[in-house]
Amino acid sequence: MTALTLDKINKTFGNVNVLKDIDLSVEDGEFIVFVGPSGCGKSTLLRVIAGLEDASSGTVRIGDRDVTTTPPAKRGIAMVFQSYALYPHLDVEGNMTLGLKQAGEAKPVISERVAMAAKMLSLEDYLKRRPAELSGGQRQRVAIGRAIVRKPELFLFDEPLSNLDAALRMATRVEIARLHRELGASMIYVTHDQTEAMTLADRIVVLRDGRVEQVGSPMTLYNDPDNQFVAGFLGAPSMNFLAAGPLGAAGATLGIRPEHLRVAEGGRLKGTVAHVERLGGDTNLLVTLASGDVVTVRLFGQHDHRVGEAIALDYDADKTFSFDAEGRRIRS
Ligand SMILES: Nc1ncnc2c1ncn2[C@@H]1O[C@H](COP(=O)(O)OP(=O)(O)OP(=O)(O)O)[C@@H](O)[C@H]1O
Ligand SMILES: [Mg+2]
Repeated sequence: MTALTLDKINKTFGNVNVLKDIDLSVEDGEFIVFVGPSGCGKSTLLRVIAGLEDASSGTVRIGDRDVTTTPPAKRGIAMVFQSYALYPHLDVEGNMTLGLKQAGEAKPVISERVAMAAKMLSLEDYLKRRPAELSGGQRQRVAIGRAIVRKPELFLFDEPLSNLDAALRMATRVEIARLHRELGASMIYVTHDQTEAMTLADRIVVLRDGRVEQVGSPMTLYNDPDNQFVAGFLGAPSMNFLAAGPLGAAGATLGIRPEHLRVAEGGRLKGTVAHVERLGGDTNLLVTLASGDVVTVRLFGQHDHRVGEAIALDYDADKTFSFDAEGRRIRS
């Protein structure tokens, strides 16, 4: 069954159109990630799905119900925000159960669901603590727990991990992936972090300036992007783009991912090492080419290149991408 269908969603604030003809269909149990730069409309689209914002035109269907004008509480969704918005005076259990109590759920049902969520999220030892007595990661888990206990058809997450440090982000990311497997519910997750998008999504929706640029599995978007924007947005470090010249066809831009450049004596790209980033497992070289373009080269392992060193790079032609002047992919 289809979990969510968006049909020609537009959203206008004043005379600014921030969502433009968004069509999307989410399958039952799918994990969808909305990704795109700041201000592209990710949160607004999520809020339209949640009913916190009315679409200016278009329809929202959850399952087989048209919910375009249905209030948020009746949509069968649960939303987790970047700011956890926990009630400071309630303990963890109180925060998780408030919504259920307000909805008039029976006590045994409430206890059973809280026990399940607390176990899934390793919060069993913290149920009597207030938010102020928890770490950021624990608070985040409470916010997720509050969503889980409602047993929604659809989970909506808006940058839930952006307040966490790198280690906790990764741990919580893994937890969310596991939760998704265990609950089997449909999830829509907003982030501007391409790593989160790549690692969590069944399918990624890349948004730019209120429009959908491309929808597909992470590896489809990575290996077969429709345009220069998608190619540049997914992958870290990002794809290198070389202006037309001896390398590309006239008027086209050539794209090469950093891991597809190699240091090679006599290589076609001659330049000078401008910067070296030693990450331990990887080494990134920033190389200024004779053309003036600066490219990133991602080398596996540790290498003792030095700034100022003359270097030659090479690549395989079948690992390159071509884009026309409008940034559209030219598929050969
Ligand atoms: N209530 C509002 N009134 C007017 N403009 C708004 C309103 N809410 C959002 N916008 C505008 O709509 C556009 C999309 O905003 P939105 O919050 O959806 O972006 P986003 O993709 O979530 O960005 P970020 O990654 O920074 O959270 C922005 O240009 C924003 O300024
Ligand atoms: Mg946002």
